[in-house]
Amino acid sequence: MKKIGVFTSGGDAPGMNACVRAVVRNGIYNGCEIVGIQYGYEGMIQGLFVDLSARSVSNIIQRGGTILRTARSEHFKTVEGRVEAARQLKAAEIEGLVAIGGDGTFQGASKLMEEHSIPIIGVPGTIDNDLFGTDYTIGYDTAVNTAMEAIDKIRDTAASHDRLFYVEVMGRDTGFIAVDVGISSGSEYIAVPENQTNAQDLRDQLESLKKTKSSAIIIVAEGDDAGGALKLAENIKGVSGYDYRICVLGHIQRGGSPTARDRMLGSRLGVAAVDSLIEGKTGVMVGEIHGRIELTPLHETWAKRKTLDKDLWRLAAILAT
Ligand code: ADP
Ligand code: F6P
Repeated sequence: MKKIGVFTSGGDAPGMNACVRAVVRNGIYNGCEIVGIQYGYEGMIQGLFVDLSARSVSNIIQRGGTILRTARSEHFKTVEGRVEAARQLKAAEIEGLVAIGGDGTFQGASKLMEEHSIPIIGVPGTIDNDLFGTDYTIGYDTAVNTAMEAIDKIRDTAASHDRLFYVEVMGRDTGFIAVDVGISSGSEYIAVPENQTNAQDLRDQLESLKKTKSSAIIIVAEGDDAGGALKLAENIKGVSGYDYRICVLGHIQRGGSPTARDRMLGSRLGVAAVDSLIEGKTGVMVGEIHGRIELTPLHETWAKRKTLDKDLWRLAAILAT
């Protein structure tokens, strides 16, 4: 393989730049040319390609976001869009791809592989941590730390005013961010999509909590069945004795300088992706499981569901008492 394309796709995640850097440097180390594809699949369709040298990725390991930019592309979801993307890749003599993104990105990659026989390897890059085949995704650790720091600040004002706060964190379909943030910020309750949230039960719990705690923090994953923090607060209709406020942390969780852990994960997986591609292992995602690099067929990364750790759930309940 002489020319490899690399792109970031879907929601950006801190650590994607560390991964791009690793792909570029390991590719060049192995005698390949590396082409950056800008704006994910949308840029692939438009032929937005840039040659990347080892120096072009200097000074980016500490930067959040993605220097390659990212996008969500409706056009790529069509057969015609993928035909155009494959034509552009062929014209640029790109022989293999490293796709850094989430489950949507990998679903698109699988189709491109099946329809146009382009070797592709996936790297898990999303703050949601919702991919089977890796213990952690690139960006998750930074997002959890960002949210935790924000909640530490909310805790100060909540305690000063004896208030109840509903804090919404990201997590479209899963509660990974919510659980880790909830435990690490000492929150009183965590609402996640994986467990049914009953507003009446929660209200009862909060009323009993009010007897011993003058303030409290409820973490709500955006994808929770209760419908996010605003909806949950509305359904609970107030808890006697607690004045309440709502805070939606939103995209702040996607930005910022990546933690050491995300830089390490991005670097390690980026190198492993190029090694695997060169060895002819494609149609797989590189992940890290129990500290070891593991390859998982792309379709399993979204078809199999990574589950929340039940022990953590138990821990959260015990520690919130
Ligand atoms: P993520 O990769 O973070 O899950 P998205 O779900 O937005 O983010 O997916 C990124 C892009 O991948 C989409 O904008 C689209 O171009 C492509 N994609 C997602 N799902 C499919 C699909 N089923 N078929 C083809 N392309 C897809
Ligand atoms: O997949 C990452 C993520 O940040 C989700 O947690 C969130 O639901 C979604 O992306 C938000 O997407 P957008 O930036 O398009 O609003």
